[in-house]
Amino acid sequence: MSQANHLHFSARRQHLISLMQAQGGGVAIIPTARELVRNNDNTFPFRHDSYFYYLSGFTEPDAVIVLVATADEQAEILFCRQKDVEREIWDGFRYGPEAAQTEFGFDAAYAIDDIHQKMPELLADTHKLFYSTAVEPHLDTQVQQWLQEVRAKSRAGIGVPTTTVDVRHLIDEMRLYKDSIEIATMQRAASISGAAHARAMRTATPGQFEYELEAELLHEFRRQGAQSPAYGAIVAAGANACVLHYQSNQAQIHDGDLVLIDAGCEFDSYAADITRTFPVNGKFSPAQKTLYDIVLASQYAALACAKPGARYMDGHHAAVRVLTQGMLDTGLLDKNLVGSVDDAIASLAYRQFYMHGTGHWIGLDVHDVGLYRDIHNIAENKPYRHLQEGMVITIEPGIYVRPAKNVPEEFWHIGIRIEDDILITSDGHHNLSRDTPKTVAEIEAEMRRAT
Ligand code: GLY
Ligand code: MN
Ligand code: MN
Repeated sequence: MSQANHLHFSARRQHLISLMQAQGGGVAIIPTARELVRNNDNTFPFRHDSYFYYLSGFTEPDAVIVLVATADEQAEILFCRQKDVEREIWDGFRYGPEAAQTEFGFDAAYAIDDIHQKMPELLADTHKLFYSTAVEPHLDTQVQQWLQEVRAKSRAGIGVPTTTVDVRHLIDEMRLYKDSIEIATMQRAASISGAAHARAMRTATPGQFEYELEAELLHEFRRQGAQSPAYGAIVAAGANACVLHYQSNQAQIHDGDLVLIDAGCEFDSYAADITRTFPVNGKFSPAQKTLYDIVLASQYAALACAKPGARYMDGHHAAVRVLTQGMLDTGLLDKNLVGSVDDAIASLAYRQFYMHGTGHWIGLDVHDVGLYRDIHNIAENKPYRHLQEGMVITIEPGIYVRPAKNVPEEFWHIGIRIEDDILITSDGHHNLSRDTPKTVAEIEAEMRRAT
């Protein structure tokens, strides 16, 4: 780990400590994820917990961060796996507490096996426990045991925490605003993912199978150093594009099909989430182009709302208006049945062809953390929060046409989504995935390029 990175992680721990102190102080417990057994001695690929990583940069399993923030004491403590030369022959390098303490900038580090002895000591005479219950049942049980041990000493005058605060809630608000290192990492994730989309466009040919394009995506991710996909890639040809969470990626792609690809890599723990839709034969049909340009116009309308001060939901409303107008113009929605654009929005008639939201926060997790609404403002019906500099959102409108009576047949089975990753800046936004071919002309030009 570079010195600069380490300082970023320490600064986040210090920030969390100051938030804890503002609430009267206490002890925070933040575990990483658990390794999951797939079968026998075979585990799923390990992915550290995002909260834990955000505060440490440490990627080994079996680790817990403990932050002590009382009036007269402050400490950043890491529990991690002991050095073990024998295990390292099988599983590879592990830091061990001594090296981890220095490398990751903690005040102290101990072997994870010592946590049962240390935690009752650390929790003694603590005002508040900053811990997220009901996330890791296994750890909940341990925390209860530690608290019982402290409580057992109450006759000796030892105090036990009387309040538990959901520490994730505090970290959520921190994670919502990306710092410069996070933005640089997310830019890299988006650039690699965009290159993967362009590669899929260039290699696509009628007769291929969806998984062949998925292989091109994965090839580009790994070739450029991304550690994994950020989520299961959707490669959906023809009618499969109308299945919103399609992931089997097994079907053959026929001449004349559109291919919807929703794929992004995870680079240094940060996600990209990009969708592009293109004709496998390299040329949009008139019907495909008509709907494509409506979705694109709706995305531009939502992008115009991606700026500080706009409410989170403004982009969705703007996109829905353009999409609904397009549905009326093309006859997807029958004016005689649904009325004006306002009527069709009010009655939710547009949901026949656009049934999902227009985006989400993105960061360490593809659907990242942070509140979307002011849940405490009941009087105003929990209004959506304002966008602010440093937030990163996706903008991903679409149209999905399933065959139905009254729906012009030329549009049947067309599914289109266009998704970009958008950083809110002081004066508007910056599109992290801007290099991914997007307009009809850009996509057709990319597809003409030889690989
Ligand atoms: N790939 C998941 C999403 O677009 O939200
Ligand atoms: Mn997506
Ligand atoms: Mn998305």
